[in-house]
Amino acid sequence: MASKTALVTGASRGIGRGIAIELARAGCRVAINYAGNAQAAGEALALVKAAGGDGFTVQGDVASAEDRARVIAEVVEKFGRLDLLVNNAGVAPNVRADLLEAGEESFDRLYAINLKGPYFLTQLAAKQMLQQEPDAEGFRGRIVNITSISVYTASINRGDYCMVKAGLAMMTKLFAERLANDGINVYELRPGVIATDMTGGVKEKYDKLILHDERGITPIRRWGKPEDVGRAVRAIAEDRFPFSTGAVFDIDGGFHLQRL
Ligand SMILES: NC(=O)c1ccc[n+]([C@@H]2O[C@H](COP(=O)([O-])OP(=O)(O)OC[C@H]3O[C@@H](n4cnc5c(N)ncnc54)[C@H](OP(=O)(O)O)[C@@H]3O)[C@@H](O)[C@H]2O)c1
Repeated sequence: MASKTALVTGASRGIGRGIAIELARAGCRVAINYAGNAQAAGEALALVKAAGGDGFTVQGDVASAEDRARVIAEVVEKFGRLDLLVNNAGVAPNVRADLLEAGEESFDRLYAINLKGPYFLTQLAAKQMLQQEPDAEGFRGRIVNITSISVYTASINRGDYCMVKAGLAMMTKLFAERLANDGINVYELRPGVIATDMTGGVKEKYDKLILHDERGITPIRRWGKPEDVGRAVRAIAEDRFPFSTGAVFDIDGGFHLQRL
C-alpha cells in the first residue's frame, strides 16, 4: 500500500494509540493528536515508528476552533494530503452522576469535546479532502468516528455521555450522505468495553460483569483491547470496504446481541 496519511485525535493513549500503531503497521504516516499529555504522545510516536510507520505529534484541543484549524493546517503542511481522519478523542464524565442530579458543566464539557469538536474538525478535514485528487483507489479521503455502545445503551449515571455519542452516530450518517459522491467514505466504529485509562476506574465492576458473572455481558468473554479497534481502522485505511459508507462496525465482543 502506498504510504497513506492519517490524523488520529486523542492518539497519545488508549484506543487512539492502538489505532495509530495499527495504521503504522500498514505503513501509514500518522499525526498523533493529544490534548495535554506530551509524554504519552511521544511514546505513541516511538511505537508508531517501531511498527514501521512514521509521523509526528500535534497538540490541540478538539473543542477549540483555533486548535482544530491549526492541527489540520499542520497535517497538510507536513503530509501534503490527508487520507484518513479518525475522530477518536473523547472523554467520560468526571463524576458519574444520576440523571436527576447531573450538572450542566459536565454536559457542556462532553458536548464540546465528544460531539461539537469532531463535527467541526470533520468539516475542515472534508474541505481539505475535497481539494485533493483521488488516489489510486479513487478515494479523496476516509473518515472514521469512534462512538460507543453508549449510542444505544441507556446508562443513567452518564446520560450526557450517551447523548453525545448518539449524536456522533448521526454525524456519521450525515457526513456519509454528504460526501458519498465525492470519493470520501465515512464509517462509525462502536467499541464496547475496552481496557484503557478511561475504564481504569471501573475495572472491578467490568471484571465482574465480563469475566465472573455466570453469563457475562459480552458473549466473547474478555476485555476489548485498543488493538481490536485499531485493526478495524486499519482495514478501512486499506480500503477493505470500498462500497460501504455510513456503516457501523460493532467492536464489542458481541455486546450488542440481544440474548435470551
Ligand atoms: N475505553 C472504552 O471502553 C471505550 C468504549 C467505547 C468508546 N470509547 C471511546 O473511545 C475514545 C478513546 O477512549 P479511550 O478509552 O482510549 O480514552 P483515554 O484512554 O482516556 O484517552 C483519551 C485520549 O483522548 C485525548 N483527549 C482528551 N480530551 C481531548 C481533547 N479535548 N482534545 C484532543 N484530545 C483529547 C487524550 O489526550 P491526552 O493524553 O493529552 O490527555 C487521550 O489521547 C473516546 O471517544 C471514548 O469515548 C472508549
